[in-house]
Amino acid sequence: MLLQLEGIYRHYVNGNVQTQVLKGINLIVEKGEFVSIMGPSGSGKSTLLNIIGCLDKPSSGVYKFCGEQVERLNDSQLADIRNRSIGFVFQSFHLLKDLNAMQNVELPLIYRGVPKNERRKLAQAALESVGLSHREHHRPTQLSGGEQQRVAIARAIAGNPKVILADEPTGALDSHTGENIMAIFQRLNSEMGIAIVQVTHDENISGYGHRVIHLLDGTIAREETLRVI
Ligand SMILES: Nc1ncnc2c1ncn2[C@@H]1O[C@H](COP(=O)(O)OP(=O)(O)OP(=O)(O)O)[C@@H](O)[C@H]1O
Ligand SMILES: [Mg+2]
Repeated sequence: MLLQLEGIYRHYVNGNVQTQVLKGINLIVEKGEFVSIMGPSGSGKSTLLNIIGCLDKPSSGVYKFCGEQVERLNDSQLADIRNRSIGFVFQSFHLLKDLNAMQNVELPLIYRGVPKNERRKLAQAALESVGLSHREHHRPTQLSGGEQQRVAIARAIAGNPKVILADEPTGALDSHTGENIMAIFQRLNSEMGIAIVQVTHDENISGYGHRVIHLLDGTIAREETLRVI
């Protein structure tokens, strides 16, 4: 089992108004699974993904990542899980504009203290696996949207994570480019065993994984299994 959420609640307090965003989420994602989360705007998808990514903590409930109870970890242990075990991919890529593709991919490895030679090799291999070896010296402004997202995926996988968490990874791309990104996710999932949890609004994009979780108003309304692992 990769991750397990039991009775997860998350609320926000603004002044004296309390907004309940997640209302008792129970979810298990297995190692090597590819799961899509769908649901209307405001249903809590990003909030859930942030909790799964150890970027946010639940108000109550138990979240275990690889058997480790996340609320018991301190900030540096959480940072370590994010850096070593999780690769993040965002709708708007979040690349640093003054760094070229290679340097962007190397960044999480620098934080991890990987020596330069090894870092280069890992970054080159990651760029190669998304088909971007010929763009390693290009900066984000010199790349198409699809290429920028592939650099972001290379950055996410360079450190050999257990899971990629992606919040609307194809939201800023045309449908054809989005399908290319899904083909890359499917390959990383089936060949490298990297689990994927992605949020999407797009029915077609949600069709690439093993399972679809439908969120509605902070609860899981239903789940669909599309294919077995
Ligand atoms: N920091 C915050 N303070 C108060 N309310 C918040 C905060 N962050 C999120 N919310 C509320 O929580 C609800 C869920 O937000 P969330 O971003 O998880 O939705 P979402 O499903 O990702 O939506 P979208 O599809 O538009 O991205 C929203 O109603 C939002 O207003
Ligand atoms: Mg969102």
